[in-house]
Amino acid sequence: MEKKSVPYKKTVFVCTNVRTDGREACANPGRGGAELCEALKKAVKDAGLKGKIRVAKSGCLDLCAHGPNLFVYPGGEWRSGVKPEDAPEILRDLLG
Ligand code: FES
Repeated sequence: MEKKSVPYKKTVFVCTNVRTDGREACANPGRGGAELCEALKKAVKDAGLKGKIRVAKSGCLDLCAHGPNLFVYPGGEWRSGVKPEDAPEILRDLLG
């Protein structure tokens, strides 16, 4: 095992969980979790921040009814009910 420090200034974990059994999930059709993740990735790329801010797909974060959900590491910021069009505001907040 090799230990390293975190290579990104911020990592945004976006729930992209899908369920097919009728239960709610952030990326079920019409919920927008997958679209949110893609919008954030595009915003990071367009801002030239690839390699500094990482947007990563996450499994269920256990607040399914309030999704789409994301959290930011480090810092522990949590957002629920996020829409793809919120991506620019989220990026602005990440940059302080
Ligand atoms: S499916 Fe996203 S928090 Fe559970």
